[in-house]
This record gives sequence, structure tokens and C-alpha cells, in this order.
Amino acid sequence: MQNKDSIKNTLFIGIGLCLICAAVISVIAVGLKELQKSNAILDQQKKIVAAADLKGFYGTTESAFDSIEEKIIDIEEGLITDISTEKYDLSKELKDPSRYIALSSIEDIATIKKRENFSKVFLEYREDQLNTVILPVRGYGLWGILYGYLAISSDLNTIIGLEFYQHKETPGLGAEVDNPKWKALWRGKKIYDENGEILIKVVKGKVDNNSDMSTYEVDGLSGATLTSNGVSNLLAYWLGDSGFKKFLNNLKQENING
Ligand SMILES: Cc1cc2nc3c(=O)[nH]c(=O)nc-3n(C[C@H](O)[C@H](O)[C@H](O)COP(=O)(O)O)c2cc1C
Repeated sequence: MQNKDSIKNTLFIGIGLCLICAAVISVIAVGLKELQKSNAILDQQKKIVAAADLKGFYGTTESAFDSIEEKIIDIEEGLITDISTEKYDLSKELKDPSRYIALSSIEDIATIKKRENFSKVFLEYREDQLNTVILPVRGYGLWGILYGYLAISSDLNTIIGLEFYQHKETPGLGAEVDNPKWKALWRGKKIYDENGEILIKVVKGKVDNNSDMSTYEVDGLSGATLTSNGVSNLLAYWLGDSGFKKFLNNLKQENING
């Protein structure tokens, strides 16, 4: 009779178990990766709908998102392209030097180093009239890049909302960018003055509501001036000439198809 405790048997069982466990873990990891990816996409869709405050009108986040048109725009030209949105992936765009520009330190006020040539934007129409534009924005806070969406109403100058879906700021300090009370302060704020200059910013402390500038200002996050400045800088970048300003101007003139 074979000895069950032989070295050969022990090795066989040990290695066999290891192989089975490894196979189970890799199947789970691969399965979860897809789930994580689809959850991340779903989370971004929620943020887009939240920034644009569309859930109330459409009933659910899903139907609100379904009503939004996704377009790939050429940032430099400020025009909509016919590039398919399906395969668009910002991280891939930023890996191909022919598909981004490297920003000089003077240009790079949001500290993002590279700006993609093509960007995915979101447009919501009601009865064929543009109602909301939702733009992807990003820029450095204190600990890393904050990624978010800025929703602007059809006058192309009034903010509906700003939502971040990814950042590394500290809970209780910079991460207060996610606090609903702070996010509510953005609604109705104006971006540009009558000369097209970007005035929107996060101030240090509280906004003085008696000041003429209050329409362009949002309260600072207390104890988190660096994150607050990061938010001001990222808006200044993405709403400026190197960002979406040309696209917004073209939208104003309804001259958006490339
Ligand atoms: C552990 C730690 C985490 C911090 N996290 C943040 C942060 O996420 N955002 C931020 O602006 N400041 C953060 N700060 C504070 C900054 O270093 C800096 O003091 C602050 O931004 C100044 O803001 P104030 O002028 O409003 O106090 C952190 C400080 C410490 C010690």
C-alpha cells in the first residue's frame, strides 16, 4: 500500500492546492477588474448627472444620462469631431505624444503637464435647444490631481455644478470638495466677465456678498487653501484659451461642427 505521508504525496497535494488557489484568485481578479471598470464608469455618469443637476428633471440617473449626448471635440479648434466616443479613453490619449500637447510651466496653471488634443464632452438638449454643457476638468490640489466635471447652463457662463469623481485630498480638509454644502455654493456663479476674462475662483475665507465680485466667487475650504487654489487653477486652465474657451465661444455662435 502507498504511504499517504510520503514526500511525493505531500508535494503533490501542496503544489496542487497552490495551483487551484492561484487559478481561483486569477479568475476572481479578472472578473472583478471588469466589475471595477464598469463601476468606475457608472460613478462618473452619476457625477456628470449630479453636476448638471438633471436627476430631478429626468427621474433617474440612468434616464438623465441617457438623455445626454457625448461628443469628442478638438480642443484646439473648439469643434465637434466625428470621432466615436465609445473607445475614447483619456489615459490612452495621454500616452500617445501625437494626441496631446506638453504644457510649458507658464501655460500649465493646473499642473497637469499634458493636455489631450481631443476631449469627451457632454451636451444636454431640450426640444433641440442646448440646455447644459458638461466639461471634464482636472488639476493638481495638494496631494494629487483632482478629476471632475463642470456643468454650465445654456448661456455658457453660469455654473450649474462642479463634481469631482477622483482625488487624493485629505478627508476633513481638501476632501471637503465633496461636501454637498460646499458644492451647492457653485450654483449660479458666473465664469467670465463681459470682456471674456475668467473671474471665477475660490477665495480664502468667506465670500463678501456685498462685493461686485461675489457672483464670481466661492467660499474657500477652511484649512485647505492649497486644495482651494488648485480648484481655482484648474477652472482657470480649462475655461481658458488652452482649454474649452474656444469650444464655448463656438457653442455660443452655434458654430460647433467640424
Ligand atoms: C496631514 C495634513 C494633511 C493636509 N491636507 C490638506 C489638503 O488636503 N488640502 C489642503 O489644502 N491643505 C491640507 N493640509 C494643510 C496645508 O498644509 C496648509 O496648511 C493649508 O492648505 C493652508 O490652508 P489655510 O490657510 O486655510 O489654513 C494638510 C496638512 C496636514 C498636516
